[in-house]
Amino acid sequence: MNMLTEAGVEQQLADQGNTPAIKMRGKGVTVHYGDKQALFGVDLDVPEKQVTALIGPSGCGKSTFLRCLNRMNDTIPICRVGGDITLDGEDIYDPKIDVVELRARVGMVFQKPNPFPKSIYENIAYGPRIHGLTKNKAELDAVVESSLRKAALWDEVKDRLQEPGTGLSGGQQQRLCIARAIAVSPEVILMDEPCSALDPIATAKVEELIDELRQNYTIVIVTHSMQQAARVSQRTAMFHLGYLVEEGATDKMFTNPDDKRTQDYITGRFG
Ligand SMILES: Nc1ncnc2c1ncn2[C@@H]1O[C@H](COP(=O)(O)OP(=O)(O)OP(=O)(O)O)[C@@H](O)[C@H]1O
Ligand SMILES: [Mg+2]
Repeated sequence: MNMLTEAGVEQQLADQGNTPAIKMRGKGVTVHYGDKQALFGVDLDVPEKQVTALIGPSGCGKSTFLRCLNRMNDTIPICRVGGDITLDGEDIYDPKIDVVELRARVGMVFQKPNPFPKSIYENIAYGPRIHGLTKNKAELDAVVESSLRKAALWDEVKDRLQEPGTGLSGGQQQRLCIARAIAVSPEVILMDEPCSALDPIATAKVEELIDELRQNYTIVIVTHSMQQAARVSQRTAMFHLGYLVEEGATDKMFTNPDDKRTQDYITGRFG
């Protein structure tokens, strides 16, 4: 039996000089919206089962980069993506990639909670059903329950599964959206300012949840809150005007960044 604590395992890996596997890798990523270039040659590795925070002033390209990771930019007609992005070493922009399947592997949670106008149960059951992940009602029930449990929502909703998802509080709706993403067994979860519409208590719950989820999932989160980035992430990437300024261990980025723009941003001098 493995008796090592998580910190112990991390220390052991560090002692061995091991670093976590790279789950996703962006190499020379460029994005244009029509004539306007929004990203300029971004190189960024996303380590497996860690939380990577994307920070930087408004309009610097954080959401644009995030949307490249599950090809959500495909839905914007004027948007063109260049460079290479891989998932487990495989090019996600290869023509043979099934985008629906990719978005199940790389799920997304948005800024504003957006439950379907359906019951709590149906919000979770929808994905597993269309992806054919369950064989019968009992299996589907089990997926709904386990997804809601993983999203720390089960106890609050187990007696009202047939009520509309939109009737939940904002924080509960966001955890419902996280449960919905989890239900199709993603490997990576992208979150674009997932707490910006939530009050401090709901935010704390979602942050706690993110910290638990990283045991099983790779997470990339965009946030405007420096405190949130410092609290939930292990890696931080700083963007400015479409360029990746620097990235590194969150501790270092917040105590001793290499770039003056990072220093200025985290100390609130611009942004
Ligand atoms: N759908 C779009 N059509 C045209 N231009 C866009 C579109 N989406 C983003 N852009 C432009 O691309 C640049 C980067 O925008 P993006 O939304 O990625 O920034 P961001 O860092 O997420 O900002 P914020 O913190 O305000 O959300 C901006 O100049 C923006 O105006
Ligand atoms: Mg954004």
